[in-house]
Amino acid sequence: MADWALITGASRGIGEATAARFQQAGWRVMNVSRKPCPVLGVVNVAVDLAVPGWEAKLAPALEAGPGTGGGRLCVVHNAALYEHDDALSMDADHLRRVLEVNVVAPLVLNRLARPLLTDGSSILYVGSTLSEKAVKGVASYVTTKHALVGMMRATCQDLAGTRIHTACVCPGFTDTEMLREHLGPDAAVRASVEGMTTFGRLIAPGEIADVLFTCATTPVLNGAVLHANLGQVER
Ligand SMILES: NC(=O)c1ccc[n+]([C@@H]2O[C@H](COP(=O)([O-])OP(=O)(O)OC[C@H]3O[C@@H](n4cnc5c(N)ncnc54)[C@H](OP(=O)(O)O)[C@@H]3O)[C@@H](O)[C@H]2O)c1
Repeated sequence: MADWALITGASRGIGEATAARFQQAGWRVMNVSRKPCPVLGVVNVAVDLAVPGWEAKLAPALEAGPGTGGGRLCVVHNAALYEHDDALSMDADHLRRVLEVNVVAPLVLNRLARPLLTDGSSILYVGSTLSEKAVKGVASYVTTKHALVGMMRATCQDLAGTRIHTACVCPGFTDTEMLREHLGPDAAVRASVEGMTTFGRLIAPGEIADVLFTCATTPVLNGAVLHANLGQVER
């Protein structure tokens, strides 16, 4: 009986490291993103979560993969857009696109995965430090990451009595392309961000993957918001 991890955005970064972590522990892994996951053995379903209707392509793959197992299924809502924008001037279509990937896609995926969530299964959300605070210039990201905490709490309540658990892991500054693209090429900017953790370094994607794996296998964390940020220095 195979256990499966169904991860969105495992083509790089935290998602890729999470795919590797689950696979190392003997789980089968399915990635949902536009590009494939580089980890050998991962089943890839190429969809663009920003384009409504993607679930029609995923449904048969789920049937053929996790649907055949009967083991645990861990759904990891990891894919996200991180855009520079402003709460007072944001265009509505821009916000709708970010909402589609960051908030609507996890809800659609939950509905699709629900029949496959057996005893011991889990739904994990990847939030952010910005799930519970805001900084300037990333309003759609802050808004959608706060929404994920609400969604996780609603998930916990709506799954009561099912022996399926949920949690939201909130990474801090993690060394991935998302962060590198956001910071730009200036080494001084990177150094200043490193100085914003109490350890003076960025988090490795594998460290977040370890936390996600722990959540998947630790039902007592049901309903928890876990900050995995090396301790952020507050200014
Ligand atoms: N890195 C950090 O410092 C940091 C901090 C806090 C929270 N996080 C959170 O951690 C998660 C992973 O972040 P990361 O840093 O690993 O990001 P990343 O390197 O940018 O990876 C993002 C992943 O999301 C997928 N994705 C983006 N748009 C998509 C779309 N339209 N359809 C399908 N997949 C899409 C990408 O796959 P394709 O391009 O192949 O589609 C990619 O695999 C995100 O939820 C992020 O908000 C990251």
